[in-house]
Order: sequence, then C-alpha cells, then structure tokens
Amino acid sequence: MGSTEPRPRVEAGREPDLLTYIWALPNFHELANNPSKVLDAIDKFNTEEKRLINIGPRKGVVIDKIIQERKPSIMVEMGGYVGYSAIRFGDALRRAGGKKYYSLEINPINASVAKMLIELAGLQDIITVIVAPSHEALAQLVQDGSIEQIEILFLDHWKDRYLYDLWFVERLGLLNEESVIVADNISPEAGRGIAYVDWLKATKAEKEETLKAYEFSDDFEGLDLANLIKKKGIKDVGVDLANVEGVPSYVYETEIHPFQGHSGRTDGVAITKVLSI
Ligand SMILES: C[S@@+](CC[C@H](N)C(=O)[O-])C[C@H]1O[C@@H](n2cnc3c(N)ncnc32)[C@H](O)[C@@H]1O
Repeated sequence: MGSTEPRPRVEAGREPDLLTYIWALPNFHELANNPSKVLDAIDKFNTEEKRLINIGPRKGVVIDKIIQERKPSIMVEMGGYVGYSAIRFGDALRRAGGKKYYSLEINPINASVAKMLIELAGLQDIITVIVAPSHEALAQLVQDGSIEQIEILFLDHWKDRYLYDLWFVERLGLLNEESVIVADNISPEAGRGIAYVDWLKATKAEKEETLKAYEFSDDFEGLDLANLIKKKGIKDVGVDLANVEGVPSYVYETEIHPFQGHSGRTDGVAITKVLSI
C-alpha cells in the first residue's frame, strides 16, 4: 500500500504497472481462467496502489443484472481501457449463454493490457478487443458482417463522443426494440453527458431542430449506411463516419442511476431502453 498522501488523479504508466502488479501476486496462479479473481486483483490495485478509471464493482453490479435479465447474444462496449468491464460483462454474457463481447479501445497500450488480462481470465474466445476509434471499429464490424444488431451497448469512452456514436449506431440500424444502452459518467448535476441525455429524452420534432444546428458534410436523407459500408468498405464509403446524422424517429426511455463519485461528486449510469425505432 502506498503513502497516506493524496494520490494524483492521473499517474502516468499505471496501466502497464497493473500487469507488473498482477503477474507478481503471490496467488497469481489462482487467477488463470478465473474472471472474478482477475477483477478482484484489478480492484485491489485500484484501491491500494494506483487509481484506475474502470467501472468498478458498485456500478458493475447494476450492469451485471441487465445482462442476466436480457441475456444478450452480442454486446458492444466503447472504451475498453484495461479490460475490467470487458472481463466483468464478458463473463456475465458467457454465463447468460451469449456469443460475443466486442471491446472497442482507441489506445493501443490500454488495449494490450486488456488483451493480456482477458487471456489470463480465460475469456479470449468470447471477448474481441478492437484497437481503433469506436466509430471506425464499429464500421469494421458492420463491414465484415460480425454485427447486425446490438442487444446491449455500453458507452464508456469520452463523453463528447457519446451522442455522435449513438447517432452512428442509429444510422447503421443496429438497435432494435429489445436493445439497451448503458452510459457511464452521466451527471446532469455536473453537466456531463447533457447533450446525450437531451437527445434521448427529446421528441422527434425537437431532434429535427437539434440536427439542423449541426453542419453535416454529407447528405443522409434515405441513405442506407450499413449497406453502403458493406458494399464499398470503410475506406471508400465516401462518408465522414465520425460525423453522421442521427435518426430522429427513435423513442427512448432513460433512467439515471446516481452514484457517489470518489471526490464526493454525484456520478450516474444512464440506462436507456429503446421503445420504438
Ligand atoms: C473510462 S475508460 C473505460 C473503462 C472501461 N469501460 C472499464 O470499465 O473497465 C475510457 C476508455 O475509452 C477510451 N477511448 C476514448 N475515446 C475513445 C474512442 N473514440 N474510441 C474508443 N475508445 C476510446 C480511452 O482510451 C479509455 O481507455
């Protein structure tokens, strides 16, 4: 355990340090093929050594429950970090009879740490880590036919991408009336995730107004983007995939579960059901 002095919020190199820590644990051999022991070790590093930015056990339980209830075949997370949520939810998905958990991570160092921990936990067959910006990774999964629908989408990357990546998911037609979207770090009090939540709660007319304020470089009227990606491929699709217009007709129901954050700030997990598309 470190000193009693406050730890800096961000400690450079903490993600690879997690691997050094885990591989040196006296009970390391017990972690092999044991997702819950790998999660415990990450939690211990987080509380006793260096602070990580993973979902953690308190919020994790809420999402575990959704997986147990929905029994998704496919789940996609945006923002994989060092693999904590992928191991936790990938294991829950496997126990619920699911097929695949896609973890999209932009940072190759975080993704490498995640891949090692996923392999240690014995979940490499069920979890696929893709190292790319979330919209590019998603387009790749659509292009190669790996996903046609997303039953549970977990948004946990950078908050300013939540809305744009949701628009991309809508435009690709990946949601259905059974889909659930879970978004971490939504705090209406702290003003985080507001544009995203506003979109989820807006009427069709309000959404059309919102979209008018954005300058989309491409014309999305009547465009079947998923088919275009399949036909032309990501590189030649001719559409700026990071900047895709949302679909105003989707009707959502959103509930925000509040949590007390480390610094005493209220944080929240937004759970959204798709009511109609
Ligand atoms: C809060 S962490 C994710 C924590 C992880 N879901 C967990 O609970 O274990 C956010 C991660 O999102 C990644 N990220 C940020 N922007 C991204 C993007 N556009 N596409 C994919 N990953 C992104 C960051 O590199 C970081 O690893």
